[in-house]
Amino acid sequence: MLRVLFLGDVVGRPGRRAVASFLRGLKERPDFVIANGENASGGKGIDPETAEELQDAGVDVITTGNHVWQKREIAPYLAETERVLRPVNMAPGVPGVGATVRPTRRGGIPVGVLNVIGRVFMPPVDCPFRAADAAIETLRQRARVIIVDMHGEATSEKMAMGRYLDGRVSAVVGSHTHVQTADEGLLAGGTAYLTDAGMCGPEDSILGVRTDRVIERFLTQLPTRFDVAAGPVLIQGASMDIDEASGRAVGITRIRERVSP
Ligand SMILES: [Fe+2]
Ligand SMILES: [Fe+2]
Repeated sequence: MLRVLFLGDVVGRPGRRAVASFLRGLKERPDFVIANGENASGGKGIDPETAEELQDAGVDVITTGNHVWQKREIAPYLAETERVLRPVNMAPGVPGVGATVRPTRRGGIPVGVLNVIGRVFMPPVDCPFRAADAAIETLRQRARVIIVDMHGEATSEKMAMGRYLDGRVSAVVGSHTHVQTADEGLLAGGTAYLTDAGMCGPEDSILGVRTDRVIERFLTQLPTRFDVAAGPVLIQGASMDIDEASGRAVGITRIRERVSP
């Protein structure tokens, strides 16, 4: 049995530090750790140093989303690594890959990771469903265990992806909204599903950002600086147990833990 941990959008330095201490503090090390890192550098984007920091903390594969290009230095880095993904259904030819296979630390069992992004209330991209079909066909030649990060705004689109891929992948977990949903479970075909993992970011905030800045923007509609908030961090995500022989999930547990700085 493989235990795979999926952590929601890591927000800024507080999020990174909390993820590191959370992983250090686990009694039982998971076999594989995936974290969405699109907000890991200063709350928007991810740079190479931040990506390395998360990997050193024990994250095997970092997924991203619409904020992936915010820190421009990430583009050449993505072109050279498969441990940081950008959504697979972006324009053809952009740097990086949207899917990869990495071995677990113990036992070297191959785990496929696929990063897709939705297009409802999101910047235009290629069809995530057709892109997932193609990517999974390729991944399946190398891995039975496949975990999908469905980065999207609309719950309907994320649920549609979960049900569309049910039975073909081990898990579909959503990211992007920073608000965790409570609908974790196993779908009929054996795929673990959670509409949104939530975030790994400051709890006393609005989606990880300082509350005063966000409220000011809503009240004035003027651009305000979105600084990452401070204080205790919520670690949010899901832990999944997967039968490596069949690729089917046997359980999914939601994670919501407070880590004090
Ligand atoms: Fe995010
Ligand atoms: Fe996002």
